[in-house]
Amino acid sequence: MLPGKRILLIISGGIAAYKSLDLIRHLREHGAFVRCIVTESATQFVTPLSVSALSGDKVYRDLFSLTDEAEMGHIQLSRDADLVVVAPATANILAKMAQGVGDDLATTTLLATDKDIMVAPAMNVRMWEHPATQNNISILKSREVIFIGPTEGKMACGEFGEGRMAEPAGISDAIDDYFHAYAPLAGRHAIVTSGPTHEAIDPVRYIANRSSGKQGHAIASALAARGARTTLVTGPTHEPNPAGVKIVRIESAQDMLNAVLASLPADMAICAAAVADWRPEKIDDRKMKKRDHTTAASLNILENPDILRTLADSADRRPHLVVGFAAETNDIIENAVTKRDYKGCDWIIANDVSSGTNTFGSDENKVHFITENVIEDWPLLAKTGVADRLVDRITEHFKTFARAAE
Ligand code: CTP
Repeated sequence: MLPGKRILLIISGGIAAYKSLDLIRHLREHGAFVRCIVTESATQFVTPLSVSALSGDKVYRDLFSLTDEAEMGHIQLSRDADLVVVAPATANILAKMAQGVGDDLATTTLLATDKDIMVAPAMNVRMWEHPATQNNISILKSREVIFIGPTEGKMACGEFGEGRMAEPAGISDAIDDYFHAYAPLAGRHAIVTSGPTHEAIDPVRYIANRSSGKQGHAIASALAARGARTTLVTGPTHEPNPAGVKIVRIESAQDMLNAVLASLPADMAICAAAVADWRPEKIDDRKMKKRDHTTAASLNILENPDILRTLADSADRRPHLVVGFAAETNDIIENAVTKRDYKGCDWIIANDVSSGTNTFGSDENKVHFITENVIEDWPLLAKTGVADRLVDRITEHFKTFARAAE
């Protein structure tokens, strides 16, 4: 379950910190991206250089470093992960977490995160058994912090008892189990189309539209985060590749159709691309010259294939769930309802792209979710929020479908 998963590993200062190096190695071998924060005291046990060499990434240490905050602030660090793991978790960091103390980069990130947190405690047996620690553990468990270990055994200090950090392979397995449990779309294949298409006129000119690809890319990312094998067929965009997603880059509508058909079979297709409706009949292989046109140049245009409609209509290869978008400037719901019927898709997400709404390119979207029986107005959400909400619906849909098939 780990390929493409983003793990934020916080290494706090205990003798077991050396084992976290092995944990990084295990996680990366299983395909995860590991980004690390080391606390000041952890640097007494492991060097940031070795952590960086093993994680293949910069190591974050300082809350007040202008460079760190500029590159990836603590809020972004905490949000940009699928899971936060604290290993080793000392009695001190557990106490700070329980009490909501944020006095360094590690603890402020733990306070700011909206992701699940897993801890692998490591400390002397008496510190582990101390009522203060046990009290902190109860508080953290009540907040659904996931505990891995500690185990019982001989300790670095010579004593015997509970408090040894779980072995790196065990922590890596627990992380794998976590993603398995939280990956309800595992085993499903999703195709997502995103971005605009470019329809060439000649080697330098093309017909395009204002789509940024933000919504489609966010959907692909949310599907992959729920465990779906995701193929993103995207037109030219500046959006970064979502982690754990197979990317197929195309330019024209015809290329997009070919790539989508080549990616079948799929359990679901979400067509978020703003496909150009028309293309020039002929693509000049040389730049068209103004002087060749005595009057204003005109183009003969042909209609492009409709990818959504082709998918919805593809008989035995039809994905079980086909979702389209409806970009409308007026009579939004009425037009979208008609479009759902005409395209033959199961659901359609309607959005207002009239001038002034700034839907194309913005980070937010206000949509209407339309099925055969339901029309819902969703509030203004970040495009990632729209993606999460849509993927919640998709997850519910496949749960019901799987139950019905049993
Ligand atoms: N779509 C597609 N292939 C096309 C055109 C559109 O797959 N050639 C898909 C889009 O990805 C979207 C849905 O169809 O999911 C509706 O796209 P939209 O641009 O809203 O509508 P059009 O089909 O282009 O119709 P119109 O321009 O008349 O509104």
